[in-house]
Amino acid sequence: MNLQGKTVLITGASEGIGAACVEAFRKRGARISVVARSREKLERLAGPDGLVTAGDLTDPEVRAACVEATLDRFGSIDVLVNNAGIGLYTPSWQADIADIRHLMELNFFVPVAMAQLVVPHMAGQGGGVIVNVGSIAGKVTLPWMTIYSASKFALGSWTDGLRLELKSKGIHTITVCPGYVKTGFQDHMLGGRVPPSIRRSKKFAITAEQCAEAIVRGVEREKRTVLTPAVGWALVAVARLLPGLLDWQLYRMYRGAEASDES
Ligand SMILES: NC(=O)c1ccc[n+]([C@@H]2O[C@H](COP(=O)([O-])OP(=O)(O)OC[C@H]3O[C@@H](n4cnc5c(N)ncnc54)[C@H](OP(=O)(O)O)[C@@H]3O)[C@@H](O)[C@H]2O)c1
Repeated sequence: MNLQGKTVLITGASEGIGAACVEAFRKRGARISVVARSREKLERLAGPDGLVTAGDLTDPEVRAACVEATLDRFGSIDVLVNNAGIGLYTPSWQADIADIRHLMELNFFVPVAMAQLVVPHMAGQGGGVIVNVGSIAGKVTLPWMTIYSASKFALGSWTDGLRLELKSKGIHTITVCPGYVKTGFQDHMLGGRVPPSIRRSKKFAITAEQCAEAIVRGVEREKRTVLTPAVGWALVAVARLLPGLLDWQLYRMYRGAEASDES
């Protein structure tokens, strides 16, 4: 897709990957509509030409408002980037069920609900792209964030099915699976503590700007899946071909994390 003059609606755009996406799409000549809870941050990022909707996306009225306002202002939505998401590091057998439900709401049900609002318009205009920001944890289950992984697996599976549901309408879907991205994500999680050994393992960390650039290129090239950094594909291959070996390695990392957590 050529993004010049296209309208892009980005959720969770007040900081991190979403904020970097604002700049990356704008550089391609796209018109920007953003939604998150922090109005001031959004207004600073969106600038005079951008459209801001401030609110909590788990509220159906906020979702409807940002879609309606975007259509009113720009007359179209060509790209929806479902980016807002949250982490949970509490072991799944101990986590508060209310936290698990909240995580699933934001990471899975909100993207589905946003797509339900946007698809009729995209279908009417003959096409569009829906980007769902998942995670490498949605390709390989990470035991220090099991529930988060489950939410991102659900998101990726739904994205694959939705692509085929919507193919005849000219609507394409993309799953983005970042590895570790340097944002405030780990400070915003719902519960638990990031094990220090995991917090330190930033060997393949990328910036939010690099992640946003990979997302924009994925939209331009109509990729099905974007893994960034690309070394993540090696992890996916090991998970497929040598699942026992991966379990062993993840268990070692997890036990190491538990031990450093206790010390
Ligand atoms: N950082 C990583 O290492 C990493 C790796 C893989 C995947 N991801 C995924 O990438 C996406 C973005 O993560 P990030 O690292 O940029 O995280 P972040 O820095 O914590 O940013 C999260 C964004 O989501 C918004 N948000 C959170 N709850 C919201 C709610 N209830 N309603 C509306 N907006 C809400 C936040 O804005 P407000 O607080 O203003 O609402 C913020 O703009 C997430 O889906 C995450 O799972 C991140």
